[in-house]
Order: sequence, then C-alpha cells, then structure tokens
Amino acid sequence: MEIMRKLNQDLFGNLRIFCTRVVSLGNGIVRRYCKLWDFQSLNVAVGIGSLLFCLFALVCVYFYLFPSLSPVRHSYEIVSTPRNGSISAEKCNVFEGKWIQDESYPLYNASQCPFAERGFSCLANGRRDRGYTKWRWKPKKCDIPRLDVQKILGKLYGKRVVFVGDSLSRTQWESLICMLMTGVDDKRSVYEVNGNKITKQIRFLGVRFSTYNLRIDFYRSVFLVRPSSVPRRAPKRVKSTLRLDLMDDISKEWIDSDVLVFNSGHWWTPTKLFEMGCYFQVGKSLKLGMPINTAFRKALDTWAYWVENMVNTNRTSVFFRTFESSHWGGKNRNTCKVNRRPWSRTNGRDRSKISDNIVKVVKQMKVPVNLLHVTRMGAFRSDGHVGTWGDNPSVPDCSHWCLPGVPDVWNEILLSSLLNG
Ligand SMILES: *[C@@H]1O[C@H](CO)[C@@H](O)[C@H](O)[C@H]1NC(C)=O
Ligand SMILES: *[C@@H]1O[C@H](CO)[C@@H](O)[C@H](O)[C@H]1NC(C)=O
Ligand SMILES: *[C@@H]1O[C@H](CO)[C@@H](O)[C@H](O)[C@H]1NC(C)=O
Repeated sequence: MEIMRKLNQDLFGNLRIFCTRVVSLGNGIVRRYCKLWDFQSLNVAVGIGSLLFCLFALVCVYFYLFPSLSPVRHSYEIVSTPRNGSISAEKCNVFEGKWIQDESYPLYNASQCPFAERGFSCLANGRRDRGYTKWRWKPKKCDIPRLDVQKILGKLYGKRVVFVGDSLSRTQWESLICMLMTGVDDKRSVYEVNGNKITKQIRFLGVRFSTYNLRIDFYRSVFLVRPSSVPRRAPKRVKSTLRLDLMDDISKEWIDSDVLVFNSGHWWTPTKLFEMGCYFQVGKSLKLGMPINTAFRKALDTWAYWVENMVNTNRTSVFFRTFESSHWGGKNRNTCKVNRRPWSRTNGRDRSKISDNIVKVVKQMKVPVNLLHVTRMGAFRSDGHVGTWGDNPSVPDCSHWCLPGVPDVWNEILLSSLLNG
C-alpha cells in the first residue's frame, strides 16, 4: 500500500505540476497572440479546455492504478484498531511508538515457567534491578490490546504454531509458551512432546498444550537455507557450504502449520561463516567472493519462493521478524554494558541492512506475509539484554534478551495480529 501511495503521490504530484503548466501555457499563448483583441472569452475557453484535459488525464491515471476500485490491502502492514474499538480511518503502524513504564508488567515469572531456559532467566541468575521488566510498547496511534490469555488460548484451539530460526526465535518461542501457560491451571498438561530439555543445538522442540490441542514448535534453522558439504576440487579453506538456492531440508516440517514465524540474521556474519570455513554455493558453483549481504538477499529470495509455492497462505499466517537489535559497544563492537533503563534514543541501532533486505523481499511477495518489524523498538532497549546474567557470567551477552522482557512484546504484537486477522 505504501508503494501505491507513494506512486500515487508522485504521479498525481507530477500531473498537478504538468497541469498548472498547461493551463498557464494556454493563458500565455492567448495573451501573446491575442493581445490585439481583448479576447477574454477565448482566454477562458483555452483555460477550461486545458483543465478538462487534465481532469481526463487524472481519471485515466486513477483507473490505471486502481482497476478494480477495491481497496488493496497489502499484508505486510500489521495494522491495529484503537483500543476503544472504534474503527479508525487512520491506520496505526504498531512498530512506530515508544516504551512507557507500566507496573502491571511483566506478564509472567520465568522461574515458574519450565520453558524459559535458565540462560535467559536473568532474575534467577542474579540480576537485581527489575525495572527492565516493567516496560510496555506504546504505538503512536493505537494501543496493543492487553494480553487476554483465555481469549488467545480459545483462538489457538487445535492449532499448530511454528517458530523457525536462530536462538532469538527460540526466545520468542519460550516467551509465547510462558505467556500462554499463565492461563493454564494444570501446568503438567503442557509438555515437550519428546521429553527433551531446551538446549542450544537442538533442531526441534515441540510443546503441546493438551487441554487446547495446541502445538507450539521450534525448529532451529539459523540460515533458513541448506547447509551442504564441500564440492570436489574446492579450495582447502572451504570446510562447508551454504546452498543459497535450496531451503533447509527440514523445511517440509514447517508447511503443515497455522502460524509460521521466521527469523534469520544474527548468523550472517564473517565470524560465523567465513572464519568457520563456510562459504556460499548456488547450484554446483561455489561463490567464494560473494558478499554476505548479497548472499542473505539470495537466501531470502529462496525463502520467498518457497513460501509462495509451498505454503497455503489461506490457512497459514506467515510472519518474518526483522533484525533484533543488539547493543554491543566499544571500538570492536565486543563490549557489553547493560543499562538499567532504556536509551531515550536509538543511537542508530534502528538501522539494519539485514532488516532492509527482509522488508524489501517481503514487500515484493505475491502472497500475504506479515513483517514483525522489531528492529526499531528493540534499539531503545539496551537495558533488556542478558548481559552477565546468562549461562556464562564471564561472557557478557548483548544480543539475547532476558525473559520476561522484550520478546514478550513481539508476541503481544503477533497475538493481536492473529486476533484481528
Ligand atoms: C477512540 O480512540 C481514537 C484514537 O485514540 C480517538 O480518535 C476516538 O475519538 C476515540 N473514540 C471514542 C468513541 O472514544
Ligand atoms: C518468581 O517466582 C519465584 C519462585 O516461585 C519467586 O521466588 C520469585 O519471587 C518470583 N519473582 C517475581 C519477580 O515475582
Ligand atoms: C486461497 O483462496 C483463494 C481465494 O479464496 C483461492 O482462489 C485459492 O485457490 C486458495 N488457495 C488455496 C491453495 O487453497
């Protein structure tokens, strides 16, 4: 819709300038050549003629742009109606807003949720300040509806929700389970289907809410595309490759779902790729010199094609979460200082090439996909990271978030969008 609006503005803007010129040119011609006779009427006639011509042109352009005259709704915008229930003509971009203190938060206690992994439970790991758990995201033009767990559990009855991506995706998965568990009396009715514990390398975790016949699954696929073995005659430094033209081979497990939430981004770095001997490959050909940004774009194109052709978007609501801001500081971006309060400004952390690529690809897709554009809201939250209250206090962490915390808000937006949709 944004593109249309822009195009619309540009076209109509240009036409308006053009029309003004035509009208004044007409007047000019008349004035220059008809000076002898004061043909006021001719002047007016030429003016009206030009105006009519322009009106005609405008109408043509309008019908060209909106052939069906039906409102075009592009799915990538998550819009929300105001909390008071009025249908506002003005749309609300829920990702534009600010953090405000709210004593009614947090939404759950991680120590009472068996699915919040210890590494993210900052309070359990000795974090003393609790202010970071008491912030609500307030979109500029609307409110995110207050979490109504019973309503959500009803809506999700019999459904399968699937998260795919890296550890940030696992955090959102854990957060959603903890949020929903606050509405479940018998905690034992919620369990991992294989009895597995949450670990970093595990490829699949599935949690079942048996009372609601609801599944909330997580698949670890940090690149979304397929890791592969080294082709013959490759240089020695190549230890593995990433097939940018093929989806991860577990992708077939994701298709049969009602909600599908993707992310990828934190692993697309030289340290996690080239320095580990992992290089890009398309078809049979190694792409040794391909920049990471280009490769990420190719991987996203592969993902988009997969969604368009494999996922029934009549059934499945598809989401892609953009880059989750990190707050590494220092010259080499390797120091981590967790504040007590959010930053008042984004300090440039709201910009991300990863997110730009995701936005571009999603906007061009032929099927509805929702963007969870969390980059900007996270940029303020230098107070929300795990820091030294994670698995390993000697290695501070300014990428992952404490639970409860910022990922809960991603889920509030996800859930409100599901309730609206
Ligand atoms: C509902 O909220 C919107 C936006 O906050 C406001 O413009 C509108 O006047 C409100 N309507 C009522 C009936 O309170
Ligand atoms: C969370 O629950 C634990 C164990 O029940 C309790 O000791 C702790 O005080 C609770 N934390 C908060 C912030 O309420
Ligand atoms: C989805 O719905 C549309 C419109 O109702 C229909 O034309 C299309 O065939 C459906 N696609 C699938 C895969 O069911």
